[in-house]
Amino acid sequence: MPPTVVTTTPLSFAPAAAVARIAAASRRTQQPQSGGDLVSLAMGEPDFDTPRQVTEAAEAALHAGRTHYSPLLGEPALREALAEKLTGIAASPISPADLLITQGGTAGLAASILAIVGPGDKVVIPDPTYSLYADLVSMAGGVVVPVPLAPDLHWDLDRLADALDGARLFVFCNPGNPTGIVHSRAELEALADLLDGTSTLVVSDEAYADLDFTGRPFTSALSLDGLRDRTVYCQTFSKSYAMTGWRVGYLWGPTPLIQAAARIHNTFNGSVNTVAQDAALVAVRTCGPDIARMRAEYETRREIMRTELAKIPGLTLSSPEGAFYQFPRYDLDLPSAEVVAALRTTYGVAVRPGSEFGARGEGHLRLSYAASAESVVEGVRRLADGLTALRAHRTHQ
Ligand SMILES: Cc1ncc(COP(=O)(O)O)c(C=O)c1O
Repeated sequence: MPPTVVTTTPLSFAPAAAVARIAAASRRTQQPQSGGDLVSLAMGEPDFDTPRQVTEAAEAALHAGRTHYSPLLGEPALREALAEKLTGIAASPISPADLLITQGGTAGLAASILAIVGPGDKVVIPDPTYSLYADLVSMAGGVVVPVPLAPDLHWDLDRLADALDGARLFVFCNPGNPTGIVHSRAELEALADLLDGTSTLVVSDEAYADLDFTGRPFTSALSLDGLRDRTVYCQTFSKSYAMTGWRVGYLWGPTPLIQAAARIHNTFNGSVNTVAQDAALVAVRTCGPDIARMRAEYETRREIMRTELAKIPGLTLSSPEGAFYQFPRYDLDLPSAEVVAALRTTYGVAVRPGSEFGARGEGHLRLSYAASAESVVEGVRRLADGLTALRAHRTHQ
């Protein structure tokens, strides 16, 4: 008997308005990992393995039967350890009751933005910045107000002051993705002054806090009296501990903000993976030397990347103050998405287009030095070849 052929009518489906809003706002792109002959300087994740004692803790937790639901706010021992750590950073008592363990930094950002922003609310973000913020604000129905950075990629405080007028929320990351800039204590104090007397809230995403190469101590928004009471602090284990795949992050903030964020987070995610939280607890308790080791390695690669980039004519280098990114500006009259596509297909190097991070990112490339020193050298060499060829091609057109 011949097989029965089942025909289906194509589904006529219009996604929910929130999906359309995200799609309309989103600048996010997926970039390939290194493989074959491609050298990737595109990835926003450590190339290190998670420290061994952390993976061992996860194994032990599994064997100990830690396979049940965790409390909705997170494991009490982890929240206590994090509250102790944050008390040191804030130099002010931080209660574990106001800590929420999240499904990575992404869900922490989502929970805080969706808990704060309603339809029509104005949300100020730097331009360029991490592209997830605009997507989340759009999901919530808020209005994104991008504020161009100053030419040195720090905040332009005059423009920021104008934009913040009547804003519900200001979201930023420090150290910055994609800029690699670190906002100083003076800048954060200036922000606190701008917000004084207003009801504008702040989300401070400090995912790269352990990667500050300025030589100054890193200033968390938590440590400023003028910011702490209006700020949701968003953190992740992904970068400092090389734990991107484990999906553990956390939020701290004033009690009503954390309760609201917890409501969203629990609704979306339920509780966070118990084994991953047990591993994260070991990471907080023991990984100081691992963080220092990886940081030293990034610092070496950062210098290598800077030296190699400085040899390329037509590039204006950014100041590589922190995170693991450099954000040079190129002088070709070509959109960054086109430059990136040509670099990948013809020259075998993957980087990120600056336009992915905001309209003002156009004309820049984001290079990650969370890649081996050899990849950094080879990737920048290919970048140099590619830019030289693209320039020659343009001048002969
Ligand atoms: C600034 C910033 N915040 C948050 C995240 C998200 O981190 P997670 O992997 O914990 O979701 C990233 C990841 O690239 C990031 O660059």
